[in-house]
Amino acid sequence: MRILGIETSCDETSLALVRVERGRFVVEKMLTASQVLIHKKYGGVVPEVAAREHAETIFPVLAKMVNPKRPNVDAIAVTAGPGLITSLRVGVDVGRTLAWLWKKPLVGVNHIEGHIASNWLTNPRVAFPAVALIVSGGHTELLRIKKLGQYELMGATRDDAAGEAFDKTAQLLGLDYPGGPAVSKLAQKGNPRAVKLPRPMIASGDFDFSFSGLKTAVRSVIEAKGKKPKPADVCASFEEAVCEVLVTKTIAAAKKARAKTALLGGGVAANRRLRTLLAAAIKKELPKVRYVEPDLAWTSDNAAMIVAAGYFALQGKRRSDPLMLAPDAGWELGR
Ligand code: KG4
Ligand code: ZN
Repeated sequence: MRILGIETSCDETSLALVRVERGRFVVEKMLTASQVLIHKKYGGVVPEVAAREHAETIFPVLAKMVNPKRPNVDAIAVTAGPGLITSLRVGVDVGRTLAWLWKKPLVGVNHIEGHIASNWLTNPRVAFPAVALIVSGGHTELLRIKKLGQYELMGATRDDAAGEAFDKTAQLLGLDYPGGPAVSKLAQKGNPRAVKLPRPMIASGDFDFSFSGLKTAVRSVIEAKGKKPKPADVCASFEEAVCEVLVTKTIAAAKKARAKTALLGGGVAANRRLRTLLAAAIKKELPKVRYVEPDLAWTSDNAAMIVAAGYFALQGKRRSDPLMLAPDAGWELGR
């Protein structure tokens, strides 16, 4: 079957056509119109601007994907939440209109479930139960996955998301937006032990996170009187602090959940240091646990991962009514 995916939860208008062949996903076409250059001047995503851009972009992108009169699509999967409500609405309205027009099944997908499912685009060999660390600009969550479609939230950030901390650190250092790629690039030239930074909540005994204090610690280091550390050392030390907390808690969560597989997902999953440290820690501490990470193409927001999650939902006989599906900005997975 061939599924059209639609993702507009934040600042990427992404559409994908994915063929599913014997449980394997073949991404035939994916187009993502990024708004990064537009939001750059504000230092973050402006919801109203994002929604307008989605509305202007989505039909031209769609026209490049399918012939609306002969779509050759068997189902439609669209992100219905969580995210920015005005952005979500654009994708959801297009998805349900097309489903109604083409008389094809529609499924509203949870964006976090999409980030989890991005792993199957690369590697479909996932044994359950699994744990997933989802780290993005809006989320930092550890989830236990009993089986496909059954999630239990083990912990989440109490304040800033990991990606947000990267973005704010970049801003403090006057680096490019979005901050994650800029900080990790500069970090490669720095010493991760040069600047002493806290590892917030690393020994809290639960699976929650807190990154706002780390941002404040970075600010004090940068604004301190006297000799200033090199920006590359600040980046490397910051990245190390974030990664150490994420890795330590993921290992603890995998133990607690008796996981057979550990999954990674979200924009921050593109971070090479995180990938390296997590893979090494699992190999050392949990050698029986299989570690799966998504290809870099599927870490930031994209419609292919929404298709993967949508396909599993359709397999589980979940359908959304094209006349009723509404976006849910606060849709929490596994609570
Ligand atoms: O998943 P995503 O594309 O959008 C949300 O759902 O939020 O994640 C975007 C976040 C941004 O905060 C960005 O700075 C961060 O992912 N990011 C990174 C890297 N690449 C993107 N953070 C750390 N290292 C990276 N290489
Ligand atoms: Zn995301």
